[in-house]
Amino acid sequence: MRILQDFELLFQQELQSLYDKDEIKSIFLLIVTDLFELNRLSYPLNKTKEVSDRHALRFKEILQDLKKHRPIQYILNKADFYGEIFAVNEHVLIPRQETEELVDLIIKKHRSSKNLKVIDIGTGSGCIPIILSRHLDHAEVTTVDISKEAINTAKGNAQRINTPVQFINADILEWEYIFSAQQYDIVVSNPPYITPKEKQHMHQNVLAYEPEIALFIEESAPLIFYDVISSFAATHLVPNGDLYFEINQYLGAETKELIEKKGFTEVQLIQDIHGADRIIHAKKKV
Ligand SMILES: C[S@@+](CC[C@H](N)C(=O)[O-])C[C@H]1O[C@@H](n2cnc3c(N)ncnc32)[C@H](O)[C@@H]1O
Repeated sequence: MRILQDFELLFQQELQSLYDKDEIKSIFLLIVTDLFELNRLSYPLNKTKEVSDRHALRFKEILQDLKKHRPIQYILNKADFYGEIFAVNEHVLIPRQETEELVDLIIKKHRSSKNLKVIDIGTGSGCIPIILSRHLDHAEVTTVDISKEAINTAKGNAQRINTPVQFINADILEWEYIFSAQQYDIVVSNPPYITPKEKQHMHQNVLAYEPEIALFIEESAPLIFYDVISSFAATHLVPNGDLYFEINQYLGAETKELIEKKGFTEVQLIQDIHGADRIIHAKKKV
């Protein structure tokens, strides 16, 4: 007879060269909560629960996948973001904690406003537009992505989380041909921002599985999306409207300067919980 604790031990032994002990523990808990009707807190009381052959097989399949560096969120097809479960697959970025910080900042700054018109550029799983639509009072939220698969994944998430979002499948670099007179109160984006040079410092699980189009930009034009999206915002934000970006932590000063040059005011560089430059908030001039 095999019990849950045996599998926890097996995971700790087999994955120790890839992850540290705490990471393995939290991956194991994600699997347990996915496979059984248990939550993280009730696991300690259920360590001696018997594991059926079917579940034992699933544990072993997952272990093999993890050994190939496949992220647990892609294996289980789900990720937590701001208290909701998002379906994810290899066409969309796994939502990050830094992005939760961005969304949290926007919600805190705008929670007393009603009927805001918001546009998010680079939908991915839909984590930003769906959470903003859910938490901002009667906001009208639109999101744009070049990837059809990402748009389809995010549409599914919006339906399941039961939140209205409008989707546009388009290339933001062509925005002048797509948008006419629309005006927004908030423009937000977490665009691709990693340069090819940074690849050497990245984990295999990101490089081998997450979509290139969501992550990388050309070495020669690292700020292209910030340049284009702030031009879009200069045209389509209402006076005094808000522009929010998640940014490459190594390009904080350059990104801030670029946005100032575009004519925005009150350009603020904000650090994430690890102290890295991660968010820019700016205002359109009145
Ligand atoms: C860093 S990911 C962010 C995804 C999601 N917002 C999040 O925070 O998890 C960037 C997204 O931008 C999309 N993207 C890349 N190039 C684009 C383009 N030219 N126009 C519109 N979207 C683009 C990618 O498909 C990807 O979904």
